[in-house]
Amino acid sequence: MLRRSLVAALALPALLATGLSSAVAQAPFPNRSITIVVPFAAGGPTDTVTRLVAEAMGRDLGQAVVVENVGGAGGTLGAARVAQARPDGYTLLLHHIGMGTTPSLYRRLSYDAVAGFDPIGMVTEVPMTIIARKDLPANNLAELVALVRKERDKLNYANAGIGAASHLCGLLLQTAVDAPMTTVPYRGTGPAMTDLIGGKVDLMCDQTTNTTEQIRAGSVKVFAVTTPQRLASMPDVPTTAEAGLPGMEVTVWHALYAPKGTPAEVVNRLSASLQTALREPRLVARFADLGTAPVAQDRATPAAARAFWQADIAKWRPVIEAAGQYAD
Ligand code: MLT
Repeated sequence: MLRRSLVAALALPALLATGLSSAVAQAPFPNRSITIVVPFAAGGPTDTVTRLVAEAMGRDLGQAVVVENVGGAGGTLGAARVAQARPDGYTLLLHHIGMGTTPSLYRRLSYDAVAGFDPIGMVTEVPMTIIARKDLPANNLAELVALVRKERDKLNYANAGIGAASHLCGLLLQTAVDAPMTTVPYRGTGPAMTDLIGGKVDLMCDQTTNTTEQIRAGSVKVFAVTTPQRLASMPDVPTTAEAGLPGMEVTVWHALYAPKGTPAEVVNRLSASLQTALREPRLVARFADLGTAPVAQDRATPAAARAFWQADIAKWRPVIEAAGQYAD
């Protein structure tokens, strides 16, 4: 009797482990809520895009998909959080063009910015707008260019840190105008927009997903949109080429990532859900209202996102090395 209970007691943990692990292994992904990390402050353009995607994916997956904002250091703090997370599909990253610039701009990161992630799929490519505080003494792009050339670094522009889209667009503008301005960094263009509306900073180049409603409300001035064609969401706003700065064109690509080593079947399940989310009429309508659109379905795949990301890293590396401007 004693011997039998001893054998049973010794076997119990093993039995429990196999029983439990097979029970857990069998639970289909996802069986609990998923977190998508946004590497910028709440209320900004990347946050806006992510919350729309998260809601739609949550409806498809039947689990809550929550957004966590980890802003700072041009998006590298949030990226590090996901690169170092458990590769089980429950902690994801939605990031943008910063994934292309970071590997060259930052030389001392706590994570591998080139291979630390498994892409799930591309999401959207957002146009940018050149905007300013309402009372800035310039009423079109030509007047703004003249003002920047006259005032130079007495003028300041807000951005979300080195390597952020607003930083890159600011660099493009300075190069096009050939005059320096003073940088004012924020944890995201959400808080920067508040200070621009309040007149605490002079100008910014930011994504339409953050500027459209402020432009419509008249709380900021807009000079141009950085796309070859005008946008249906703001037909009265000229393109940079029309307004006198040809070649100053930039859109901000966004993609969804999992930590490196996430099981392929989980990555594929998430990619299928992302594709479903990007077809959702509610999301498509809201993206259009904010001046953007989902990517085509065949780009919301791991392979397409990986190819685009790696090509963007290769595009920015010589530009950044030639400029010799590093974030650390
Ligand atoms: C944000 O969400 O704050 C922006 O994407 C930051 C930026 O890259 O300009």
